[in-house]
Amino acid sequence: MSKKFYVTTPIYYVNDVPHIGHAYTTIAADTLARYHRLKGEAVFFLTGTDEHGQKVEKAAVDRGLAPKAHADIMTQNFQRLWQKLHISHDAFIRTTDAEHRVVVQELLQRLYEKGQIERRTYEGWYCTPDERFWTEKELVGGRCPDCGRPVERISEDNYFFLMSGYQARLIRHIEDNPGYIRPESRRNEVLGFLKTQVLGDLCISRPKSRLAWGIEIPFDRDFVTYVWFDALTNYLSATRYLSPPAQGSTDPKARERYWWPADHHLVGKDILTTHSVYWSTMLMALELPLPGNIFAHGWWTQEGRKMSKSLGNVVDPNEVVDSYGADAFRYFVLREVPFGLDGDFSPEAFITRFNTELANDLGNLLSRVNTMVNRYFGGKIPPAGAEEASDRELREAAAGIPGRIDADLSLLAFNRYLQDAWTLVTRANRYVEENAPWTLAKKQDMGRLGSVLYNLAESLRLIGVYLYPVMPSTAQKIWNGIGMDKQLTRCRLSEEQGWGGLGPGSAVRSGEQLFPRIERKNQAGRGSARTDSDEVKRKKNREKNMEKTAEEAQEPAPQPAGPELMGIDDFMKIDLRVGKIIAAERVEKSEKLVKLSVDIGTETRQVVAGIGKSYAPEELTGKAVVIVANLKPAKLMGIESQGMLLAASTGDTLSVITVDRDMRPGARVK
Ligand code: MSP
Repeated sequence: MSKKFYVTTPIYYVNDVPHIGHAYTTIAADTLARYHRLKGEAVFFLTGTDEHGQKVEKAAVDRGLAPKAHADIMTQNFQRLWQKLHISHDAFIRTTDAEHRVVVQELLQRLYEKGQIERRTYEGWYCTPDERFWTEKELVGGRCPDCGRPVERISEDNYFFLMSGYQARLIRHIEDNPGYIRPESRRNEVLGFLKTQVLGDLCISRPKSRLAWGIEIPFDRDFVTYVWFDALTNYLSATRYLSPPAQGSTDPKARERYWWPADHHLVGKDILTTHSVYWSTMLMALELPLPGNIFAHGWWTQEGRKMSKSLGNVVDPNEVVDSYGADAFRYFVLREVPFGLDGDFSPEAFITRFNTELANDLGNLLSRVNTMVNRYFGGKIPPAGAEEASDRELREAAAGIPGRIDADLSLLAFNRYLQDAWTLVTRANRYVEENAPWTLAKKQDMGRLGSVLYNLAESLRLIGVYLYPVMPSTAQKIWNGIGMDKQLTRCRLSEEQGWGGLGPGSAVRSGEQLFPRIERKNQAGRGSARTDSDEVKRKKNREKNMEKTAEEAQEPAPQPAGPELMGIDDFMKIDLRVGKIIAAERVEKSEKLVKLSVDIGTETRQVVAGIGKSYAPEELTGKAVVIVANLKPAKLMGIESQGMLLAASTGDTLSVITVDRDMRPGARVK
């Protein structure tokens, strides 16, 4: 029976669009999930969205939408980003799922029947944005100790989970299980708090009169449950209806028994208390096993400053991925900061790692090997000859890695894991220098040259395996580049980690550069030299994202602009001119083509354009449009077109580019 591995991310509030913090945890969880699949384990990787509560209700009201309609739109922003970042979650839970509600209500009922929930009149200070009560003593300067905002005095009846009764047991559990809360510093913080403060009971209801958007308390329909009681339960409820069948059984109870408890709950440090105290004691009261580990990672700042919507400096993962690719972003966030500590995202640091580690160390290694196999061995991986000292060192360097990365990942030390995997990249580059394959080629020492290239290609195969959990698409490109056809997603570490898995004779494939260098001088507007107007643009983009309707959200995401930049000289080769359409008619037997006569100042051109589905010919006459005037003439359905008309497209809809001032035909567009 294979081992099971269950990892979760927090479920994200749908009151905002995803940012680097959300992406960070999800990338970390994805790396673990991919690694454990590679080890042949049965994996359940869960993520999702937290859709109830005051914050979400307020965000929906602000947009004039019903909370569910708002959540339906916002949840797609997360799902689209996960696709873009190659996140391989097995399930996406939404707390508005009917199946989840059933479990939340069942747990509440169970706790109530066990006498673990009591009704009391509560008087205290309430922080509306944080949705929690504070005691007088906890307030800081009369304000919420968490967010610093004003609090309200509220007196009302509510239901309480008798959390205080579990304080001693929780302390014992944390002390007996050193890996329960990590990192160590956070574990000490939680223990320190539990040992010095009296744990209170937890208010787990909200009167519907104050908050309607939540799951009803099953034994009192005038109340909904507190959003954290609802949210934390997702980790358990998902095992029943979203987990892979347990050894073939789809019975919810069997699935819960098999998958629960989770091995890791990955969370940010700000939500460690809710997980380590609320969730742990809830599980104790329910007599359910506790998770194996709760890991609290640090927070990202942007160029040393706390990220905030009002500052407009929140790193949008979509922008980074569109410019530099998903794998570079995944690599950077895991490599830059030890998991557990705070980190800083600066374009400078990103570009430096990208250019030195990804482009130079890794990308160049693949392209060098690929080029030399093509040039000297007709594109076929040559066989290795007798092993020499430097070959042995390379092989031994590779052999030491699996044990180290396994230990690193068992501690969630992603940065060390990448450093350890990188030792082979560095060793292979040194091997190139030591063996100088170009000199071997010049000397016509094809036997030794073949050996060197085989060993390098074999190192690349292993590098692909080791890097796959962090950079899945890069790893596959490396494999394809050295002629490996297998899909890494379906491979097993035990079968792939031995030296010599690459068969001589495989045909290398030259692909695009893995990581084309980023030229710093061209960085304005691409996230490095950030200016105020970039900040404004970013803010606008975020607002635009929030405005997306459900229909728009279905559209395929816009494609990245592509890494290749062209010089101004290339651009100037295109002769763009203003043209005035003086006549337009449909091309017979074509739905799309329209034949236009266009005055471009010096002459009248015949242009055939594929805009017939979006425009009637009569709408076109008189328009001042933009024409590519120096294209070679081409025939479309037998009719010569002497130029091309510019138009923007979204799906089937086209919009012809026009000029908005009176311009004479023939005016240059540049
Ligand atoms: N819905 C709750 C979690 C419920 S889990 C049962 C929630 N959602 S959240 O969307 O506000 O935050 C999700 C995660 O983002 C948290 O783990 C939080 O720590 C993380 N981050 C928010 N800003 C962050 C940074 N600037 N840097 C790193 N992570 C940050 O809380």
